[in-house]
Amino acid sequence: MSEQESSADDSLNNIEQMDKKYVFGTWSFQNEVSPTQVTDTNGVTFTDATGNEYIVFSSQLMCSNLGHSADRVETAVSEQIQETAYVAPNYTTEARAKLGKKLAEVTPGDLSKTFFSTSGTEAVEAAIKIARFYTGKKKIISRYRSYHGATYGSISVTGDPRRLEAEPGIPGTIKAPDPYAYSSTLDPMESLEYIDEMLKLEGDTVAAVLVEPIRIAADATGRTSMCCGTFSSVCEGYSQSGISR
Ligand SMILES: Cc1ncc(COP(=O)(O)O)c(C=O)c1O
Repeated sequence: MSEQESSADDSLNNIEQMDKKYVFGTWSFQNEVSPTQVTDTNGVTFTDATGNEYIVFSSQLMCSNLGHSADRVETAVSEQIQETAYVAPNYTTEARAKLGKKLAEVTPGDLSKTFFSTSGTEAVEAAIKIARFYTGKKKIISRYRSYHGATYGSISVTGDPRRLEAEPGIPGTIKAPDPYAYSSTLDPMESLEYIDEMLKLEGDTVAAVLVEPIRIAADATGRTSMCCGTFSSVCEGYSQSGISR
């Protein structure tokens, strides 16, 4: 063990060291993983093992935006687990049917069906498969500054550098530039025209264009949303749309 590794380990308490030893840390060289033990959570705050309190405005990650220990979430989860914890996919429960209906009411246009998945990356995998089955075409255009998930299909359409070690990935994925005003040679609107050009040059082979209207995991900005109107007109006539994750 190098001096650097041992000093990193020395700063960890027993639980953190046990975690580092037995749990695979994601997106990291394993010798650089340095987990912080969380001993309590409440709303947007969490407490570490030495009693320090921190605020994380997304309550750790985007999947818990209602906050830690939210009463209505805890009550709903515990009531559902006590009533029925699991049914196989070809059965249903009142909660599943009602959630599907509620999502149909808030999703735009004639989108009315939800595929429930256990993660964002699985939602993207499903979207890729549905687009391919539905259109009979294979190519998926996504963008360089994007994150779509860690499983094989989703990392293949991801644009940010986390994809590089997983390449070449699934076949038929192509990357387009995105509206990024800071270090791109393309003006944000030009990047949308570029996608228009790509759709023409790829012929009739593109099954879907994947976009994060609000980018979070790739660089935590909402810039893309400014261009969504123009973007949908670029894709009009080419595609069916769907919302995933
Ligand atoms: C836009 C987007 N798609 C997909 C994912 C992958 O979701 P998950 O981590 O739940 O698999 C993320 C995760 O941050 C995301 O931000």
